[in-house]
Amino acid sequence: MTRQLMSRLLACVGLLCVASSALADGVKIGLSLPTQREERWVKDRVTMLAEAKKLGVDLRVQVTDNDAAKQVSQCENLISQGVKVLILAPHDASSAAVIIDKATKAGIKVISYDRLVTGSMADYYYLSFDNVKVGELQGEWLTKQVPKGSYIALAGSPTDNNAKLFRAGAMKYIQPLADKGDIKIVMEQWVKDWQPSEAQKLCEQALTANKNKVDAVLAPNDGTAGGCIQALAAQGLAGKVPITGQDAELSAAIRIVQGTQGMTIFKDTRELGKKAIEMALDLANGKKIETGSQVVNNGKKDVPSVLLTPFIVTKDNLDKMLIDSGYLKKEQVYRK
Ligand code: GAL
Repeated sequence: MTRQLMSRLLACVGLLCVASSALADGVKIGLSLPTQREERWVKDRVTMLAEAKKLGVDLRVQVTDNDAAKQVSQCENLISQGVKVLILAPHDASSAAVIIDKATKAGIKVISYDRLVTGSMADYYYLSFDNVKVGELQGEWLTKQVPKGSYIALAGSPTDNNAKLFRAGAMKYIQPLADKGDIKIVMEQWVKDWQPSEAQKLCEQALTANKNKVDAVLAPNDGTAGGCIQALAAQGLAGKVPITGQDAELSAAIRIVQGTQGMTIFKDTRELGKKAIEMALDLANGKKIETGSQVVNNGKKDVPSVLLTPFIVTKDNLDKMLIDSGYLKKEQVYRK
């Protein structure tokens, strides 16, 4: 390649970078998150702050600590700060509809992030993972481990639309075996605010009520799995009762290596966070988002959606999926 061509190329690249940061040029984007209690939400926030900094976006972040009313007032505050786009992960799917209505009335574009806001007729986008697939991967793995026996089937927070999608996916595998009488569901409960302590309490109740005769546990995420494993451990059952998870938390990866948790679901939040900032920047610059025909229904209308792929992680592929990808560090997972 001639020197002249090289210098022209470099000039173009330089121009492109300038262009995209000029395009960003401190554009104000609001980010409203439900919590920082689960590891994955911390990673979402860190990724989006880094991507915003890289692209010259002025990202205004609010965290609502699982408080729906607080989320509404925090978003009203972001709207009054003049953000051009709002990235919103709702604590409560239906009560967050008022946020979308207020934002879109103010001419602000909205991306429902990871969790879908339900019940709004306004125009907005949904960016997440294929959450029914998450449940399918959990249900398929658990029914393969325990095709017959007594099941505890927990679901996530009833205010979180994802919990319904995860459960629907898992039940595609569990329900037919229950209808056949091969599986007996001895407890089926939603876990308030995804609280690990709540999941532990429910598992303790089910173990007591069934004299520890439990063969499998559907835990919707790693936090609730951790709570259940505490209850199982207290009865000497940890590692003997297959249990699911989700979110590829460090503590879950350690449990999988130790054998007390069988699997988790890897959803690369680095990809999701980057995609959110890119989409927000495009929307701020008046671009239309390409979603193909992908939609998710919010109970009132089909919302154009971008859904990323979730992956199952077990002892067999943990290194490849979580360590080689840089999501977790080897020395943290394989502690001495
Ligand atoms: C869900 C999310 C999961 C899990 C859970 C608890 O909406 O998709 O990854 O972390 O919330 O915060």
